[in-house]
Amino acid sequence: MVLRATIAGCGGYLPERRLSNDDLAALHGIETSDAWIRDRTGIGFRHMAAPGETASDMGAAAALDALAHAGVDASEVDAILVATSTPDSAFPATAVRIQARIGATKGFAFDMAAACTGFVYAMGVADSLIRTRAARCVLVIGTEVYSRILDWTDRGTCVLFGDGAGAVLLRAEENGGTVADRGILSCHLHADGRFGDILNIEGGAGSTGGAGLLRMAGKEVFRHAVTKLAAVVDEALEANGLTHADLRWLVPHQANARIIEAMGRKLNLPKERVVVTVDRHANTSAASIPLALAEARQDGRIADGDLVVMEAIGGGLTWGATLVRF
Ligand code: UT7
Repeated sequence: MVLRATIAGCGGYLPERRLSNDDLAALHGIETSDAWIRDRTGIGFRHMAAPGETASDMGAAAALDALAHAGVDASEVDAILVATSTPDSAFPATAVRIQARIGATKGFAFDMAAACTGFVYAMGVADSLIRTRAARCVLVIGTEVYSRILDWTDRGTCVLFGDGAGAVLLRAEENGGTVADRGILSCHLHADGRFGDILNIEGGAGSTGGAGLLRMAGKEVFRHAVTKLAAVVDEALEANGLTHADLRWLVPHQANARIIEAMGRKLNLPKERVVVTVDRHANTSAASIPLALAEARQDGRIADGDLVVMEAIGGGLTWGATLVRF
């Protein structure tokens, strides 16, 4: 028997306020159009946190939704990992704040920063914690308030992002450990710091300067995305002796509908097997994959036994993939 990290529950939270492309342009005086944003990105709407609403507020709501979905009490949780680039503060970590908010008291809690790849990185760490018996019941949360780090005078970036949070509850389970058994099969994480300046936040806690706003060379990131994401998904399948034909679902990071469609085509997956939320949520960075997972798992699209690949690329550059059997 082998120890596996299985996904026992998925949850999500979106702030109440929802803005269309036209609403956003009018609110911030941005010279853009609904047609440009939809054509280039597939984005139609995004949610925005209320004044005073933080990453820990949203992360706690998503965590409680995942616990309810799993039918597990917060007292059973023995580790909380939060992926975020927009923490409430440098410390206490957003994960520790969430621990207190949901009424969990045992174990440990910490934040991880890998930008839009944060959730995939956190799944990799959580998988290792479970396999090495350091934890048995782990909340992995992605939560972001990008609306607070956008430069509203830069139309090339400010129309692309939204706020929200997603979470999964992982539980240790002994099973046969084959590719047909449920749980995380493998995680594949990469970084290349030489490309740090094509997508970054200038400034922030500990910085020597900068206003703490997001900058992106969109075309360059796009170029890296299409090649690196395809390669890392193939790496995950090959590591398990599987092929594109074995995949049931693609749950990608939701940055751009064109990148998502290209990935679906590369994997030979029909549109109905690719979970898409970018049209309604925009890019919620580390929250985008767990939000998409929660939608597709809670509405019954992703069924027990389905093989799912998640992939993401983001600032760092960081990128990675998680292969999981539900
Ligand atoms: O989540 C982390 C990973 N991030 C990504 O994967 C994002 C990857 N990149 C992208 O998705 C795309 O590069 C973008 C959607 C960000 C941009 O699309 P693009 O086709 O690369 O456009 P561009 O930045 O090259 O801009 C094309 C034109 C420019 O005008 P000129 O110079 O051709 O006259 C821009 O000034 O579109 C203009 N433009 C806009 N026009 C209307 C840029 N932003 C806007 C806007 N509205 N919001």
